[in-house]
Amino acid sequence: MINELIINKPDDMHLHLREGEILGFVLKDTARQFARAIVMPNLNTPVTTVALAESYYESIKDYGYNFEPLMTLYLTDALSKTEIRKAKDSKIIHGVKLYPAGVTTNSKNGIVSVDSCFDLFEEMEKNDLPLLVHGEVSDPKVDIFDREKMFIDKYLTRICENFPSLRLVFEHISTKDAVEFVVNSSSKVAATITPQHAMLSRNDLLSGGVKPHNYCLPVLKREIHQKVILEAAISGNSKFFLGIDSAPHLTSEKESACGCAGIYSAKTAIELYAEIFDKNDALDKLSDFSNKFGADFYNLPYNEEKIRLIRKEYQIPQQLEFNNNQITPFLAGQTIHWQIS
Ligand code: DOR
Ligand code: ZN
Repeated sequence: MINELIINKPDDMHLHLREGEILGFVLKDTARQFARAIVMPNLNTPVTTVALAESYYESIKDYGYNFEPLMTLYLTDALSKTEIRKAKDSKIIHGVKLYPAGVTTNSKNGIVSVDSCFDLFEEMEKNDLPLLVHGEVSDPKVDIFDREKMFIDKYLTRICENFPSLRLVFEHISTKDAVEFVVNSSSKVAATITPQHAMLSRNDLLSGGVKPHNYCLPVLKREIHQKVILEAAISGNSKFFLGIDSAPHLTSEKESACGCAGIYSAKTAIELYAEIFDKNDALDKLSDFSNKFGADFYNLPYNEEKIRLIRKEYQIPQQLEFNNNQITPFLAGQTIHWQIS
């Protein structure tokens, strides 16, 4: 039995750091375990320009952590080709994030017509700036469990056909269809996998009472999908890498008649992946998944700093205190078996 694992410090290739006071709260948890993170741009005022990304970057760096934020631009149809070139030249921006309008938290400024962005995709392809997609259609008439598959059929297939050299990350995949799409696509197409989509199915959300703290978007799917996501994560296929999609909301906003989507998993992220890989006899695959495949995809050097994970029980707190408020961490109250030492 493996009781200790020393790996290069991981990167989180999909993270919501937020802004204002909660930024410091999330950063503390993140910098403990991650060297870098791809930082999502869906702030209240979305990060739609290079200038906004630079100022957000500075506000993160001001906290003084040994942590490198990898910034992203929020795609709107007002984004210009010049701004895309500027983003590439900035060196701090590593991708452009596509949110279909209305699909999730702070996405109202997102894209209404994906087709109208094709000239922007072309510019991104030319400049080798990755496109990161929230791959779900936002049409309220489409069943919520079918929205990812529909996005693949309606848009992703065509984007990849039209822009074969565009690097594309299919974020937080939640279906067997998404895994198959990524596996069958070129080496330019990759995906991030969250702990919740690898560990849980929709029963964990809806059976025996509604569990609002397991509610995120894309919503958890049937167990068959979860199994395929898990297999992809532990497969050693370099197209699949770590992106926790930790997205904090106050406990009161989640335990509500219209609860927010988002799971706060940054408190114990690498430990959760260690738990997943260990349970599936794949601890030997954790290092590449967490610190190599993502870096390779984003053309980043490997982190040199190491972290040491040890087998030791840890009970995830029921609540985290934040500013006289509470945030409920993912798997609150449950015991996991790995800790960073
Ligand atoms: O569950 C989610 N929460 N999914 C997203 O895509 C956005 C995120 C958030 O920002 O809260
Ligand atoms: Zn996200």
